[in-house]
Amino acid sequence: MLAPDTTVLTDRRTPLRVVRRLDGGAEGDAYEVLHVPSGEFGVLKTFRDVTRKDLRRERTRYLIGLDLEALSPTLHPPREFVDALPGGGHYARMAVGTTLRELLDGASPPLITALGAAVALAHSVDVVHARDVAHGDLHDANVRAEIRDGVIRIKLIDLDGFAAPGFPSPVAGAELYMAPEVRRAVDAGRAAPVSLAADRFALSLLIHEILLWVHPAVAPDGAGDVDATLRALSDGRWRFNSTLDRPANPGLPAEMLDPALRALFARGLGLDPAQRPTADEWKRALTRSLWEVWRCARCEAQVVIDDSKSACLFCGEPYPSLALETADGRRLDLGIVRTLGRDDLGGSRHVSARQATIRRHGPDYRISAMGINPTCRRNHATGAWIELPSDEAVLIHPGDVLRLADVEIRVVS
Ligand SMILES: Nc1ncnc2c1ncn2[C@@H]1O[C@H](COP(=O)(O)OP(=O)(O)O)[C@@H](O)[C@H]1O
Ligand SMILES: [Mg+2]
Ligand SMILES: [Zn+2]
Repeated sequence: MLAPDTTVLTDRRTPLRVVRRLDGGAEGDAYEVLHVPSGEFGVLKTFRDVTRKDLRRERTRYLIGLDLEALSPTLHPPREFVDALPGGGHYARMAVGTTLRELLDGASPPLITALGAAVALAHSVDVVHARDVAHGDLHDANVRAEIRDGVIRIKLIDLDGFAAPGFPSPVAGAELYMAPEVRRAVDAGRAAPVSLAADRFALSLLIHEILLWVHPAVAPDGAGDVDATLRALSDGRWRFNSTLDRPANPGLPAEMLDPALRALFARGLGLDPAQRPTADEWKRALTRSLWEVWRCARCEAQVVIDDSKSACLFCGEPYPSLALETADGRRLDLGIVRTLGRDDLGGSRHVSARQATIRRHGPDYRISAMGINPTCRRNHATGAWIELPSDEAVLIHPGDVLRLADVEIRVVS
Protein backbone atom coordinates (compact mmCIF):
# COMPACT_ATOMS: atom_id res chain seq x y z
CA MET A 1 0.00 0.00 0.00
CA LEU A 2 1.30 3.48 -0.87
CA ALA A 3 0.90 6.16 1.82
CA PRO A 4 -0.29 9.67 0.91
CA ASP A 5 2.59 11.97 -0.16
CA THR A 6 4.76 9.04 -1.26
CA THR A 7 6.50 9.89 -4.53
CA VAL A 8 6.78 7.20 -7.19
CA LEU A 9 8.94 7.56 -10.31
CA THR A 10 7.69 6.30 -13.65
CA ASP A 11 10.00 4.75 -16.25
CA ARG A 12 10.32 8.20 -17.82
CA ARG A 13 11.40 9.41 -14.38
CA THR A 14 8.24 11.44 -13.95
CA PRO A 15 7.45 11.95 -10.25
CA LEU A 16 3.91 11.00 -9.21
CA ARG A 17 2.83 12.06 -5.72
CA VAL A 18 0.20 9.87 -4.07
CA VAL A 19 -2.91 11.76 -2.93
CA ARG A 20 -5.18 8.94 -1.79
CA ARG A 21 -6.22 5.39 -2.56
CA LEU A 22 -9.31 5.24 -4.80
CA ASP A 23 -9.92 1.54 -5.00
CA GLY A 24 -8.31 -1.74 -4.13
CA GLY A 25 -8.82 -5.41 -4.74
CA ALA A 26 -7.10 -8.75 -5.07
CA GLU A 27 -5.27 -7.61 -8.21
CA GLY A 28 -3.90 -4.35 -6.89
CA ASP A 29 -4.82 -0.80 -6.00
CA ALA A 30 -5.73 2.42 -7.77
CA TYR A 31 -4.48 5.72 -6.39
CA GLU A 32 -5.23 9.30 -7.19
CA VAL A 33 -1.83 10.89 -7.83
CA LEU A 34 -0.45 14.28 -8.70
CA HIS A 35 1.54 14.25 -11.93
CA VAL A 36 4.16 16.62 -10.54
CA PRO A 37 5.58 18.17 -13.76
CA SER A 38 2.15 19.12 -15.16
CA GLY A 39 0.29 19.68 -11.88
CA GLU A 40 -2.53 17.48 -13.19
CA PHE A 41 -4.22 14.70 -11.29
CA GLY A 42 -4.19 11.18 -12.61
CA VAL A 43 -4.55 7.58 -11.57
CA LEU A 44 -1.76 5.16 -10.67
CA LYS A 45 -2.74 1.50 -10.83
CA THR A 46 -0.49 -0.92 -8.98
CA PHE A 47 -0.40 -4.70 -9.19
CA ARG A 48 0.33 -7.38 -6.63
CA ASP A 49 1.27 -10.36 -8.79
CA VAL A 50 5.04 -9.93 -9.34
CA THR A 51 5.28 -12.98 -11.59
CA ARG A 52 3.35 -11.22 -14.37
CA LYS A 53 5.29 -7.98 -14.24
CA ASP A 54 7.23 -8.56 -17.47
CA LEU A 55 4.11 -9.40 -19.42
CA ARG A 56 2.35 -6.41 -17.92
CA ARG A 57 5.21 -4.12 -18.95
CA GLU A 58 5.12 -5.46 -22.49
CA ARG A 59 1.34 -5.10 -22.73
CA THR A 60 1.34 -1.61 -21.26
CA ARG A 61 4.09 -0.46 -23.65
CA TYR A 62 2.11 -1.81 -26.58
CA LEU A 63 -0.94 0.15 -25.45
CA ILE A 64 1.06 3.34 -24.86
CA GLY A 65 2.59 2.97 -28.32
CA LEU A 66 -0.85 3.07 -29.96
CA ASP A 67 -1.27 6.67 -28.75
CA LEU A 68 -5.04 6.20 -28.47
CA GLU A 69 -5.43 9.36 -26.44
CA ALA A 70 -4.38 11.45 -29.39
CA LEU A 71 -7.26 9.94 -31.38
CA SER A 72 -10.03 10.61 -28.88
CA PRO A 73 -10.24 12.61 -25.65
CA THR A 74 -12.77 10.04 -24.38
CA LEU A 75 -9.98 7.49 -23.89
CA HIS A 76 -7.88 7.21 -20.73
CA PRO A 77 -5.33 4.47 -21.45
CA PRO A 78 -2.05 4.12 -19.52
CA ARG A 79 0.48 6.83 -20.38
CA GLU A 80 3.51 5.57 -18.50
CA PHE A 81 4.67 2.30 -16.97
CA VAL A 82 6.09 2.22 -13.43
CA ASP A 83 8.79 -0.42 -13.06
CA ALA A 84 9.79 0.88 -9.63
CA LEU A 85 6.88 -0.98 -7.97
CA PRO A 86 7.22 -4.72 -7.19
CA GLY A 87 4.36 -5.85 -9.46
CA GLY A 88 4.64 -2.81 -11.74
CA GLY A 89 2.08 -0.10 -12.24
CA HIS A 90 0.87 2.39 -14.75
CA TYR A 91 -0.32 5.93 -14.85
CA ALA A 92 -3.35 7.29 -16.72
CA ARG A 93 -5.08 10.65 -17.01
CA MET A 94 -7.88 11.18 -14.46
CA ALA A 95 -11.40 10.66 -15.78
CA VAL A 96 -13.40 13.00 -13.57
CA GLY A 97 -17.11 12.48 -12.99
CA THR A 98 -19.04 9.40 -11.93
CA THR A 99 -19.41 5.90 -13.25
CA LEU A 100 -22.14 5.22 -15.78
CA ARG A 101 -23.62 2.98 -13.07
CA GLU A 102 -24.06 5.95 -10.71
CA LEU A 103 -25.43 8.07 -13.51
CA LEU A 104 -28.09 5.44 -14.24
CA ASP A 105 -29.31 5.65 -10.64
CA GLY A 106 -30.45 9.20 -11.35
CA ALA A 107 -33.14 10.52 -13.67
CA SER A 108 -32.77 9.92 -17.39
CA PRO A 109 -31.56 12.88 -19.45
CA PRO A 110 -33.37 14.18 -22.54
CA LEU A 111 -32.99 11.69 -25.39
CA ILE A 112 -30.90 14.07 -27.47
CA THR A 113 -28.38 14.23 -24.60
CA ALA A 114 -28.35 10.45 -24.23
CA LEU A 115 -27.86 10.03 -27.98
CA GLY A 116 -24.88 12.36 -27.85
CA ALA A 117 -23.34 10.29 -25.06
CA ALA A 118 -24.00 7.06 -26.98
CA VAL A 119 -22.32 8.51 -30.07
CA ALA A 120 -19.29 9.45 -27.94
CA LEU A 121 -19.11 5.96 -26.46
CA ALA A 122 -19.45 4.26 -29.86
CA HIS A 123 -16.78 6.58 -31.21
CA SER A 124 -14.36 5.82 -28.39
CA VAL A 125 -14.79 2.07 -28.90
CA ASP A 126 -14.47 2.54 -32.66
CA VAL A 127 -11.12 4.30 -32.21
CA VAL A 128 -9.81 1.38 -30.16
CA HIS A 129 -11.22 -1.23 -32.55
CA ALA A 130 -9.72 0.56 -35.54
CA ARG A 131 -6.33 -0.37 -34.04
CA ASP A 132 -7.44 -4.00 -33.82
CA VAL A 133 -7.59 -3.74 -30.04
CA ALA A 134 -10.53 -5.07 -28.02
CA HIS A 135 -11.10 -3.27 -24.71
CA GLY A 136 -11.99 -6.58 -23.09
CA ASP A 137 -13.79 -5.20 -20.05
CA LEU A 138 -16.53 -2.84 -21.19
CA HIS A 139 -19.04 -2.33 -18.41
CA ASP A 140 -20.81 0.38 -16.50
CA ALA A 141 -17.99 1.06 -14.03
CA ASN A 142 -15.33 1.38 -16.74
CA VAL A 143 -17.39 3.96 -18.56
CA ARG A 144 -17.27 7.21 -16.66
CA ALA A 145 -19.46 10.21 -17.29
CA GLU A 146 -19.28 13.85 -16.43
CA ILE A 147 -22.36 16.02 -16.83
CA ARG A 148 -21.36 19.54 -17.68
CA ASP A 149 -23.36 22.26 -19.47
CA GLY A 150 -26.19 19.78 -20.10
CA VAL A 151 -23.86 17.44 -21.98
CA ILE A 152 -22.79 13.97 -20.84
CA ARG A 153 -19.07 13.61 -21.44
CA ILE A 154 -18.06 9.97 -21.74
CA LYS A 155 -14.69 8.56 -20.72
CA LEU A 156 -13.44 5.04 -21.17
CA ILE A 157 -10.99 3.70 -18.55
CA ASP A 158 -9.42 0.35 -17.60
CA LEU A 159 -7.98 -0.45 -21.02
CA ASP A 160 -5.21 -2.67 -19.63
CA GLY A 161 -7.29 -5.85 -20.01
CA PHE A 162 -7.19 -5.38 -23.79
CA ALA A 163 -6.89 -8.12 -26.39
CA ALA A 164 -4.88 -7.57 -29.58
CA PRO A 165 -3.01 -9.80 -32.03
CA GLY A 166 -0.32 -11.48 -29.95
CA PHE A 167 -1.90 -10.26 -26.72
CA PRO A 168 -4.79 -12.37 -25.45
CA SER A 169 -6.89 -10.70 -22.79
CA PRO A 170 -6.25 -11.68 -19.17
CA VAL A 171 -9.87 -10.87 -18.21
CA ALA A 172 -13.26 -12.23 -19.19
CA GLY A 173 -15.23 -9.05 -18.57
CA ALA A 174 -18.01 -8.33 -16.12
CA GLU A 175 -20.78 -10.88 -15.66
CA LEU A 176 -23.64 -8.75 -16.98
CA TYR A 177 -21.66 -7.65 -20.04
CA MET A 178 -20.13 -10.92 -21.07
CA ALA A 179 -20.87 -12.04 -24.60
CA PRO A 180 -22.60 -15.45 -24.73
CA GLU A 181 -19.58 -17.15 -26.35
CA VAL A 182 -17.29 -15.77 -23.63
CA ARG A 183 -19.69 -16.89 -20.92
CA ARG A 184 -19.84 -20.38 -22.41
CA ALA A 185 -16.05 -20.65 -22.51
CA VAL A 186 -15.68 -19.42 -18.95
CA ASP A 187 -18.36 -21.85 -17.75
CA ALA A 188 -16.49 -24.67 -19.49
CA GLY A 189 -13.22 -23.64 -17.88
CA ARG A 190 -11.64 -22.56 -21.16
CA ALA A 191 -9.74 -19.28 -21.76
CA ALA A 192 -12.10 -16.40 -22.44
CA PRO A 193 -12.14 -15.58 -26.17
CA VAL A 194 -12.18 -11.81 -25.68
CA SER A 195 -12.48 -10.20 -29.08
CA LEU A 196 -13.83 -7.23 -30.97
CA ALA A 197 -17.09 -9.18 -31.29
CA ALA A 198 -17.35 -9.65 -27.53
CA ASP A 199 -16.75 -5.91 -27.09
CA ARG A 200 -19.56 -5.27 -29.58
CA PHE A 201 -21.94 -7.24 -27.40
CA ALA A 202 -20.99 -5.16 -24.35
CA LEU A 203 -21.18 -1.97 -26.40
CA SER A 204 -24.76 -2.76 -27.43
CA LEU A 205 -25.65 -3.34 -23.76
CA LEU A 206 -24.06 -0.05 -22.72
CA ILE A 207 -25.85 1.85 -25.49
CA HIS A 208 -29.09 0.18 -24.38
CA GLU A 209 -28.45 1.48 -20.87
CA ILE A 210 -27.61 4.98 -22.05
CA LEU A 211 -30.64 5.32 -24.34
CA LEU A 212 -33.28 3.35 -22.43
CA TRP A 213 -31.81 3.87 -18.96
CA VAL A 214 -31.93 0.20 -18.01
CA HIS A 215 -29.82 -2.90 -18.58
CA PRO A 216 -31.81 -5.23 -20.87
CA ALA A 217 -31.18 -8.23 -18.62
CA VAL A 218 -32.92 -6.72 -15.61
CA ALA A 219 -35.63 -9.32 -15.24
CA PRO A 220 -39.19 -8.60 -14.05
CA ASP A 221 -38.26 -9.51 -10.49
CA GLY A 222 -35.17 -7.32 -10.61
CA ALA A 223 -32.71 -10.22 -10.76
CA GLY A 224 -33.46 -13.36 -12.70
CA ASP A 225 -31.69 -15.63 -15.12
CA VAL A 226 -29.33 -13.40 -17.03
CA ASP A 227 -28.67 -15.92 -19.78
CA ALA A 228 -32.34 -16.59 -20.41
CA THR A 229 -33.11 -12.90 -20.52
CA LEU A 230 -30.27 -12.16 -22.90
CA ARG A 231 -31.33 -15.06 -25.10
CA ALA A 232 -34.91 -13.84 -25.16
CA LEU A 233 -33.73 -10.34 -25.90
CA SER A 234 -31.58 -11.45 -28.79
CA ASP A 235 -34.53 -13.32 -30.22
CA GLY A 236 -36.42 -10.05 -30.21
CA ARG A 237 -38.87 -11.38 -27.64
CA TRP A 238 -38.13 -8.98 -24.86
CA ARG A 239 -38.62 -5.25 -24.39
CA PHE A 240 -39.16 -4.86 -28.10
CA ASN A 241 -42.68 -6.01 -27.56
CA SER A 242 -44.35 -3.15 -25.77
CA THR A 243 -47.12 -5.10 -24.07
CA LEU A 244 -45.47 -8.32 -22.89
CA ASP A 245 -43.07 -8.94 -20.08
CA ARG A 246 -42.69 -5.41 -18.82
CA PRO A 247 -40.09 -5.62 -16.07
CA ALA A 248 -40.53 -3.90 -12.71
CA ASN A 249 -37.90 -1.36 -13.64
CA PRO A 250 -38.89 -0.92 -17.26
CA GLY A 251 -36.51 1.91 -18.07
CA LEU A 252 -37.74 3.83 -21.06
CA PRO A 253 -39.83 2.16 -23.77
CA ALA A 254 -37.80 0.88 -26.71
CA GLU A 255 -40.51 2.29 -28.99
CA MET A 256 -39.14 5.77 -28.38
CA LEU A 257 -36.31 4.74 -30.70
CA ASP A 258 -36.83 4.06 -34.37
CA PRO A 259 -36.90 0.59 -35.98
CA ALA A 260 -33.33 1.02 -37.29
CA LEU A 261 -31.88 1.45 -33.79
CA ARG A 262 -34.06 -1.33 -32.36
CA ALA A 263 -32.79 -3.63 -35.12
CA LEU A 264 -29.22 -2.84 -34.09
CA PHE A 265 -30.02 -3.91 -30.52
CA ALA A 266 -31.51 -7.17 -31.78
CA ARG A 267 -28.31 -7.86 -33.76
CA GLY A 268 -25.94 -6.48 -31.14
CA LEU A 269 -27.34 -8.59 -28.32
CA GLY A 270 -27.62 -11.68 -30.46
CA LEU A 271 -25.85 -14.97 -30.08
CA ASP A 272 -24.12 -14.71 -33.46
CA PRO A 273 -20.93 -12.65 -33.03
CA ALA A 274 -20.73 -12.00 -36.78
CA GLN A 275 -24.11 -10.25 -36.79
CA ARG A 276 -23.27 -7.68 -34.15
CA PRO A 277 -23.02 -4.09 -35.35
CA THR A 278 -19.53 -2.65 -35.28
CA ALA A 279 -18.85 0.43 -33.18
CA ASP A 280 -18.68 2.36 -36.44
CA GLU A 281 -22.12 1.12 -37.51
CA TRP A 282 -23.54 2.17 -34.15
CA LYS A 283 -21.88 5.54 -34.45
CA ARG A 284 -23.36 6.19 -37.88
CA ALA A 285 -26.87 5.03 -36.93
CA LEU A 286 -26.87 7.04 -33.70
CA THR A 287 -25.57 10.13 -35.46
CA ARG A 288 -28.33 9.86 -38.08
CA SER A 289 -30.95 9.60 -35.35
CA LEU A 290 -29.75 12.86 -33.77
CA TRP A 291 -31.49 14.53 -36.71
CA GLU A 292 -34.73 12.65 -36.06
CA VAL A 293 -35.35 13.63 -32.46
CA TRP A 294 -38.76 15.16 -31.86
CA ARG A 295 -39.86 16.87 -28.67
CA CYS A 296 -43.54 16.79 -27.73
CA ALA A 297 -44.97 20.30 -27.45
CA ARG A 298 -47.19 19.20 -24.56
CA CYS A 299 -45.09 16.95 -22.30
CA GLU A 300 -41.62 17.73 -23.71
CA ALA A 301 -40.74 14.01 -23.99
CA GLN A 302 -38.31 13.27 -26.80
CA VAL A 303 -38.42 10.37 -29.24
CA VAL A 304 -36.72 9.33 -32.46
CA ILE A 305 -39.46 9.71 -35.05
CA ASP A 306 -40.34 7.13 -37.65
CA ASP A 307 -43.15 6.46 -40.13
CA SER A 308 -45.20 4.50 -37.63
CA LYS A 309 -45.47 7.34 -35.11
CA SER A 310 -48.37 9.77 -35.30
CA ALA A 311 -48.77 10.83 -31.66
CA CYS A 312 -46.60 11.34 -28.61
CA LEU A 313 -45.68 7.98 -27.10
CA PHE A 314 -45.88 9.38 -23.58
CA CYS A 315 -48.91 11.71 -23.42
CA GLY A 316 -50.77 10.78 -26.61
CA GLU A 317 -50.73 14.30 -28.03
CA PRO A 318 -51.25 13.80 -31.77
CA TYR A 319 -48.52 15.08 -34.04
CA PRO A 320 -49.69 18.11 -35.98
CA SER A 321 -51.23 16.88 -39.20
CA LEU A 322 -51.11 18.88 -42.38
CA ALA A 323 -53.54 19.20 -45.27
CA LEU A 324 -53.69 21.21 -48.49
CA GLU A 325 -56.22 23.85 -49.43
CA THR A 326 -56.94 24.69 -53.06
CA ALA A 327 -57.70 28.21 -54.35
CA ASP A 328 -61.43 27.35 -54.50
CA GLY A 329 -61.42 26.28 -50.84
CA ARG A 330 -61.29 22.50 -51.23
CA ARG A 331 -59.34 20.61 -48.59
CA LEU A 332 -57.08 17.72 -49.59
CA ASP A 333 -56.12 15.46 -46.74
CA LEU A 334 -52.65 13.96 -46.60
CA GLY A 335 -52.24 10.43 -45.29
CA ILE A 336 -48.88 8.76 -44.92
CA VAL A 337 -48.22 9.18 -48.63
CA ARG A 338 -50.23 11.20 -51.10
CA THR A 339 -49.43 11.61 -54.75
CA LEU A 340 -50.95 14.72 -56.28
CA GLY A 341 -51.80 14.89 -59.98
CA ARG A 342 -54.03 16.53 -62.57
CA ASP A 343 -57.22 14.90 -61.25
CA ASP A 344 -56.72 16.14 -57.67
CA LEU A 345 -55.86 19.65 -58.78
CA GLY A 346 -58.74 20.63 -61.05
CA GLY A 347 -57.68 19.14 -64.36
CA SER A 348 -55.17 21.68 -65.71
CA ARG A 349 -53.31 20.07 -68.63
CA HIS A 350 -50.06 21.64 -67.35
CA VAL A 351 -50.20 19.40 -64.28
CA SER A 352 -48.75 15.93 -64.75
CA ALA A 353 -50.72 12.81 -63.83
CA ARG A 354 -48.14 12.46 -61.02
CA GLN A 355 -46.99 15.99 -60.25
CA ALA A 356 -45.68 15.63 -56.68
CA THR A 357 -45.71 13.28 -53.73
CA ILE A 358 -46.07 14.33 -50.10
CA ARG A 359 -44.86 11.82 -47.57
CA ARG A 360 -45.37 11.91 -43.84
CA HIS A 361 -42.55 10.82 -41.53
CA GLY A 362 -43.69 11.15 -37.91
CA PRO A 363 -44.57 14.83 -37.51
CA ASP A 364 -42.69 15.83 -40.67
CA TYR A 365 -44.11 16.15 -44.17
CA ARG A 366 -41.87 16.31 -47.19
CA ILE A 367 -42.71 16.98 -50.81
CA SER A 368 -40.95 15.48 -53.83
CA ALA A 369 -41.52 17.11 -57.19
CA MET A 370 -41.93 14.74 -60.12
CA GLY A 371 -44.01 16.53 -62.79
CA ILE A 372 -42.89 17.67 -66.23
CA ASN A 373 -43.58 21.29 -65.24
CA PRO A 374 -41.96 22.64 -62.10
CA THR A 375 -43.35 22.47 -58.58
CA CYS A 376 -42.53 25.66 -56.67
CA ARG A 377 -42.86 27.16 -53.23
CA ARG A 378 -43.37 30.86 -52.62
CA ASN A 379 -40.55 32.49 -50.71
CA HIS A 380 -42.24 33.97 -47.64
CA ALA A 381 -39.96 37.01 -47.64
CA THR A 382 -39.79 38.01 -51.30
CA GLY A 383 -42.90 36.40 -52.77
CA ALA A 384 -40.75 34.84 -55.54
CA TRP A 385 -41.49 31.26 -56.67
CA ILE A 386 -38.64 28.90 -55.89
CA GLU A 387 -38.53 25.67 -57.85
CA LEU A 388 -38.32 22.58 -55.67
CA PRO A 389 -35.64 20.06 -56.55
CA SER A 390 -36.76 16.82 -58.16
CA ASP A 391 -34.11 14.72 -56.45
CA GLU A 392 -34.78 15.72 -52.86
CA ALA A 393 -37.79 15.60 -50.54
CA VAL A 394 -38.30 19.05 -49.03
CA LEU A 395 -39.89 19.73 -45.65
CA ILE A 396 -43.17 21.71 -45.82
CA HIS A 397 -44.87 23.75 -43.10
CA PRO A 398 -48.32 25.24 -42.45
CA GLY A 399 -48.60 28.56 -44.29
CA ASP A 400 -46.41 27.45 -47.21
CA VAL A 401 -47.88 28.26 -50.62
CA LEU A 402 -47.02 25.75 -53.31
CA ARG A 403 -47.50 25.95 -57.07
CA LEU A 404 -47.82 22.62 -58.81
CA ALA A 405 -47.34 23.51 -62.49
CA ASP A 406 -49.95 26.31 -62.75
CA VAL A 407 -52.10 25.37 -59.71
CA GLU A 408 -51.60 27.10 -56.36
CA ILE A 409 -52.32 25.33 -53.12
CA ARG A 410 -51.74 26.29 -49.51
CA VAL A 411 -50.39 24.05 -46.76
CA VAL A 412 -52.70 24.19 -43.73
CA SER A 413 -52.80 22.45 -40.38
N1 LIG B 1 -8.32 7.05 -15.42
C1 LIG B 1 -9.10 6.96 -14.34
N2 LIG B 1 -9.84 8.03 -13.96
C2 LIG B 1 -10.63 7.98 -12.89
N3 LIG B 1 -10.76 6.91 -12.11
C3 LIG B 1 -10.06 5.81 -12.41
C4 LIG B 1 -9.19 5.78 -13.56
N4 LIG B 1 -8.62 4.56 -13.60
C5 LIG B 1 -9.10 3.87 -12.55
N5 LIG B 1 -9.97 4.61 -11.83
C6 LIG B 1 -10.68 4.22 -10.59
O1 LIG B 1 -10.11 3.05 -10.06
C7 LIG B 1 -11.00 1.94 -10.19
C8 LIG B 1 -10.24 0.71 -10.62
O2 LIG B 1 -9.54 0.96 -11.80
P1 LIG B 1 -9.73 0.04 -13.09
O3 LIG B 1 -8.74 0.52 -14.10
O4 LIG B 1 -11.15 0.04 -13.51
O5 LIG B 1 -9.25 -1.36 -12.54
P2 LIG B 1 -9.96 -2.76 -12.38
O6 LIG B 1 -9.31 -3.60 -13.39
O7 LIG B 1 -9.65 -3.10 -10.98
O8 LIG B 1 -11.43 -2.60 -12.64
C9 LIG B 1 -12.03 2.41 -11.22
O9 LIG B 1 -13.26 1.80 -11.08
C10 LIG B 1 -12.10 3.90 -10.92
O10 LIG B 1 -12.90 4.14 -9.79
MG1 LIG C 1 -12.53 -1.44 -13.90
ZN1 LIG D 1 -46.17 14.20 -25.07
